[in-house]
Formats: sequence, structure tokens, C-alpha cells
Amino acid sequence: MANDARTRGGSDDPAVQAVAEKALELIADGAKVGLGSGRASAAFIARLGERVRRGLRVVGVPTSDASEAQARALGIPLVEIDDTLELDLTVDGADEVAPNLDLVKGWGGALVRERIVAAASRRQVILVGPEKLVPGLGARGRVPVEVIPLARGYVARRLRAFGIIPTVRTGADGVSPFVTDNGNLTLDCRLPHALQGAQEARALEAQVLEIAGVVDTGLFLGTAERVLIGRDDGRVEVLIRASRGTPGGAP
Ligand code: A5P
Repeated sequence: MANDARTRGGSDDPAVQAVAEKALELIADGAKVGLGSGRASAAFIARLGERVRRGLRVVGVPTSDASEAQARALGIPLVEIDDTLELDLTVDGADEVAPNLDLVKGWGGALVRERIVAAASRRQVILVGPEKLVPGLGARGRVPVEVIPLARGYVARRLRAFGIIPTVRTGADGVSPFVTDNGNLTLDCRLPHALQGAQEARALEAQVLEIAGVVDTGLFLGTAERVLIGRDDGRVEVLIRASRGTPGGAP
């Protein structure tokens, strides 16, 4: 993933800064907050850390080792998900946002923990720039699927039978497989065509999850309560999921 602060989505991107600031408005004193992964989430965590330093009381649950390290360094108190904890909201990024607010996530390699933390939250709030908006999921070229290492060949074969082209994600050296925080591998899947709406996305998700050895997919369908879209001029557009999976107007 590009780390250049001058690139789209980097830490100096005004769109990223704008959505991170806007998301802070959703954090009440005493909130229990899921801390997402990736650049937009990191910008949010940085701002949350500033507020905590100034006295805001929150607890956080990180979605990756990277988010955990950042939050600890900033003094954000962290807790584990136990059998009583329900998070107020999770603030996270995404790699694609469809018109009905279905998502692709996981280009940053943290999709399984992101799924668990989102599921343990009342609301999932997504921070993106306009480049993430797509007419259909898969349009930007890859849908990640996390697999148990032993199963990678089998899962790849089954995916190819659906017309999908899977590629084992490599790490920083460009050669060795990228290993997730859970010790698994990621298959980045090029779909035969971008998914045409909610039903096709759900059908594909069901087919892929049924394959032995698949831990989870990057299809986050119906999870986002709202999406904040940052614009270069600092404006933020807010899309809220309406019932029946269609986005409503901004508040
Ligand atoms: C991490 O696994 C991802 O789901 C990220 O949330 C996603 O890749 C967005 O990251 P950026 O904010 O860095 O684009």
C-alpha cells in the first residue's frame, strides 16, 4: 500500500484530514470505539489521541496490530471484546463503496479483525475519499479473501471455477507471501466483472464463504451505517444507509 503522504489517501491528503475531523463529531465522552485500519483510520486515531490528551474519556478496540500500536503510543485506553462489551461505533476505512453503501475492505490486510470489531459495534462509520466510490464492487480490481495457508491452492482452484483470478498477496519484499495478523494468507481476487448490485454481491459472498479454508472475504455487505466522503476542498459529504440497503440523504 502506498505510504507516500503526498499521494491520494495519504496522511496529508486534505480529503482524509477532513473526514477524520468530521468523524470526531460522532465520539461522545465515554464512548467505546472500534479503531479501524489503514490511512484514513490512522488519521482519525491521531485526532482521537489529541482529544484524549485533552481529557476526552473513551476506550478503544483496535482492528490490527498497527492500529493497536498507534493507539497505545497516543495513550488511548484499549480494551478487549469480552462477552459484555458492545461498542458504540467503529470508525474505519474502505477500499470501495457501492451506491448502496456495500463495501470492499481489506486491501490493508486487516479484514477479519475489522469484521469482528464492526460486528461488535452498534454502528460502522466509514471514511473515504471520492476515488473509493464505484458503480459496482470489484471495479477497482481486487476483492481480498483471507485463507488458511494450507488451503490456498484449493481455494484458488475453486475461485477460478467462478471466473475469478486469484493472486496470493506478497509482503513488502514483493516475493514472500503477506501474512495477516491472524497468521493467514490473502488472495486478491479479480472478478470477471464488477458486481451488479446487492443481490449479486451477496450471492458471490455466500459462494466464497462456503469454500473450505476461507476465513472471510473483503465484501462488507450491509455493515456501514454511514460513509463520510472527504473532498479536496475540505468539504465532507455524508451518506447514510436507509432501510432496505439504499443510502438516504446527508444530515
Ligand atoms: C484494511 O484492511 C482496510 O480494510 C482499510 O480499511 C482499507 O484498506 C482503507 O485503507 P486506506 O484508508 O488506507 O485507504
